[in-house]
Amino acid sequence: MAEAKRLYVRAYGCQMNVYDAERMADALAPEGWTSVDAPEDADLVLLNTCHIREKAAEKVYSELGRLKRIADARKADGGRMMVGVAGCVAQAEGAEIARRQPLVDLVVGPQAYHRLPDLVARAEAGARGLVETEFPAEDKFDHIGRGPKARRGPAAFLTVQEGCDKFCAFCVVPYTRGAEVSRPVAKVLAEARDLVSRGVVEIMLLGQNVNAYHGEGPDGRPWSLARLIEALAGIEGLARIRYTTSHPNDMTDDLIAAHAEIPQLMPYLHLPVQSGSDRVLKAMNRRHTAADYLRVIEKVRAARPDIALSGDFIVGFPGETEAEFEATLALAADVGYAHAFSFKYSPRPGTPAADAPGQIAEAVMAERLARLQERLADDQAAFNAAIVGRETDVLFEKPGREPGQLGGRTPWLQAAHAEADPALLGRVARVRVVGAGRNSLSVQVI
Ligand code: 5AD
Ligand code: SF4
Repeated sequence: MAEAKRLYVRAYGCQMNVYDAERMADALAPEGWTSVDAPEDADLVLLNTCHIREKAAEKVYSELGRLKRIADARKADGGRMMVGVAGCVAQAEGAEIARRQPLVDLVVGPQAYHRLPDLVARAEAGARGLVETEFPAEDKFDHIGRGPKARRGPAAFLTVQEGCDKFCAFCVVPYTRGAEVSRPVAKVLAEARDLVSRGVVEIMLLGQNVNAYHGEGPDGRPWSLARLIEALAGIEGLARIRYTTSHPNDMTDDLIAAHAEIPQLMPYLHLPVQSGSDRVLKAMNRRHTAADYLRVIEKVRAARPDIALSGDFIVGFPGETEAEFEATLALAADVGYAHAFSFKYSPRPGTPAADAPGQIAEAVMAERLARLQERLADDQAAFNAAIVGRETDVLFEKPGREPGQLGGRTPWLQAAHAEADPALLGRVARVRVVGAGRNSLSVQVI
């Protein structure tokens, strides 16, 4: 019998990369690859990289340097460790990666994961410097089965849309992930049913622009995300549905109405705004104003008053003045986010803003980021504190930090932990909230 082949996949960056990393393991499973938890134990290491911000490529090269030491030690023992680079840095850098670090056996972009079994087999046979960064016409998901019926954790990701046609001036996604593509409804439903049959009770629908979803429906016509969610809500055993990430301009009335009408659709919306200044938004090519964004928020709140709002912000976009930054602070205060991500602008090679005049000094960006994060942290703490004393539901997803505890999520995506019977793992339980910090809640099962 052939020896077991051991695979280690490390995902950086967004949730889609985590999902893709799982699918890479799925794609290689039929070839005899089983997952291990550390590169030291692996015969093949795949780095699923992210290119969205900050020296991403440099981080990959330093990780490759670390892996080289492991590979060299393996070689000294007469063994071999293969290394592959996948994801958005692979797409952006291509063959350059294998040139700079000859350790790398293969480079594969985000649209070519179904080619992995073939690439890996060729690398095993001795081929070097394999690069696959095409955007093939076929659907990569068609070629990636899930293998035997393994149980899954209770909350899973499911990619329904990929790529982006918006071309925000700072963003590398349209170049690394390519044009916007939606998966057909039937395929999404089949994958969701499969997940539920493996013990999944909550699905997070993923897409770089998920609310622009327009996959082909069973009637041959494009279906909106709202229609897709309605169909998913018909799956018995699927208790919770979420989606991320959305663009304000695609927040259609039917999707907003879904938040009022579909009980399985959780009251949480991640809606990046990036800036509160109309001049900056225009320079970012966002194609909406601060007022447009606030109008969307108002409609969403009218449909689902308790909704938890989340967002993304960039401080220090080229040319951003102090007054323009203050408009961002004001918008954040106006919305009152339950949770938000905020970043210093980072020039991405090949994007229009990277060469724009008026790049902002690091110290100024750091100071603005600290002020914004203070505001966001206060609002998050206030959102959490407001729920103390109330009853709600928690989906227990994993053992908690202390023995005898379980950890999970409320409908508003707050992390929650409780003393709880391990039998509740994977179940939605009724709880009372007894305490709140900025990042998590303590709850009691009732
Ligand atoms: N610099 C800083 N932040 C960025 N983001 C995307 N590109 C950049 C960049 N060049 C942020 C945006 C986006 C999130 C995923 O990452 O806020 O919504
Ligand atoms: Fe990037 Fe803008 Fe597309 Fe989001 S909408 S992925 S920020 S280009």
